[in-house]
Amino acid sequence: MFDVEKIRQDFPMLRNRPDLLYFDNAATTYKPQAVIDAVCGFWTGYTSNVERGDYETAVKADRAYDHTREIIARFINCEPKEVVFTANISHSLNQIAFGIGRWLKEGDVVLTTEAEHASNLLPWFRLQEEKGIRIEYVKVDRQGVCHAEDFRRAMHEGVKVVSMAHVTNVLGSLQPIKEIAAIAHEYGALVVVDGAQSVPHRPTDVKDLDVDFLGFSSHKMCGPDGVGVLYGRYDLLQKMDPVFLGGGMNARFSSDGSIIYKDAPQKFEAGTPNIEGVIGLGAAAEYLMSLGMENIQAYEAELRAYFAERIAKLDNIEFYNPDNTSGPITFNARGVFAQDAAGYLGAHNICVRSGNHCAKILHEVIGTDQTIRASLYFYNTKEEIDRFIEAAGNITLENAIGIFF
Ligand SMILES: Cc1ncc(COP(=O)(O)O)c(C=O)c1O
Repeated sequence: MFDVEKIRQDFPMLRNRPDLLYFDNAATTYKPQAVIDAVCGFWTGYTSNVERGDYETAVKADRAYDHTREIIARFINCEPKEVVFTANISHSLNQIAFGIGRWLKEGDVVLTTEAEHASNLLPWFRLQEEKGIRIEYVKVDRQGVCHAEDFRRAMHEGVKVVSMAHVTNVLGSLQPIKEIAAIAHEYGALVVVDGAQSVPHRPTDVKDLDVDFLGFSSHKMCGPDGVGVLYGRYDLLQKMDPVFLGGGMNARFSSDGSIIYKDAPQKFEAGTPNIEGVIGLGAAAEYLMSLGMENIQAYEAELRAYFAERIAKLDNIEFYNPDNTSGPITFNARGVFAQDAAGYLGAHNICVRSGNHCAKILHEVIGTDQTIRASLYFYNTKEEIDRFIEAAGNITLENAIGIFF
């Protein structure tokens, strides 16, 4: 079925650095050979700009770039014209917020949660400051989950936008986005989803979820850095103004200052895009689909349950999200500062992330600002988890400080 040992052979980083135990996949992921080949193939075989040249390699580059739109459309079940390429999900969420922002007026409410990543809050904060919109937070439980009944209680006529992560990045809270979208739409609100931690790990069907906008980053799903996706319902993309202006996105402009934009998605892609990145993202999505997103989800759920059961038994560890079934394992070693504990693990070639993970108001929910996050992907194994548990069981203040002396 899911032959992880065979899959691991696809990843040069796993072959080249067998000493490393990489559990920082929520930050970024390793790349399979297919993605490396796609990027290098463009650089070595048909380097050209896109949407500009009439010669053979330029036409080939155009086709490869546009083909990724078709692949992503299949990956998330939308139309290719609903796929905009950006630099990352942060860029996607800024475009969405400032695009929608032009339709909002003073007092309009954006409903979100305290578990969001900075990228899904700060653009709305800017609109709060500049336009006088209001941000309200719907209640989440101790593991960061927003329950549909709490969401319904928080909804009201003033809410024009609901913006939240499908899976949160610190606690891995899986939000009931389909139910949330249905309730939000009863009130005529737009639904924006941060898919950074969900799209790489589970099947995503934007039509079934019935969301209006979704963003995600290529580098968190085996693709190159510097590429993101903005999905938008086509009628909304057509109505929305682009944040970035320049070449490639306009049909005409005149000396009187008037601009006629191209249709979406091109009007959101000003300037030369990350062509090799987009082509690599296409290869990454094809690779994930060849493994099967359902298989990836099932295998990761099994791994996470195995991990959770074992870490919960360690007396020296405080484990914050035992009830969640997706996302990272988030914990602290009792009495040890998170970064010192992560340094101890790092000294044992174990890669994890410590800190507030860009979710700087989440401490209002879980009561601590600093945590360690161990995040898995489908190429991790139970043997690696065993190695991790052995090291984690030895994190004490004495051991953690000891690595510095
Ligand atoms: C939930 C979530 N949203 C947004 C981001 C921002 O991603 P990027 O840095 O690729 O823009 C991250 C990154 O960790 C994330 O986890």
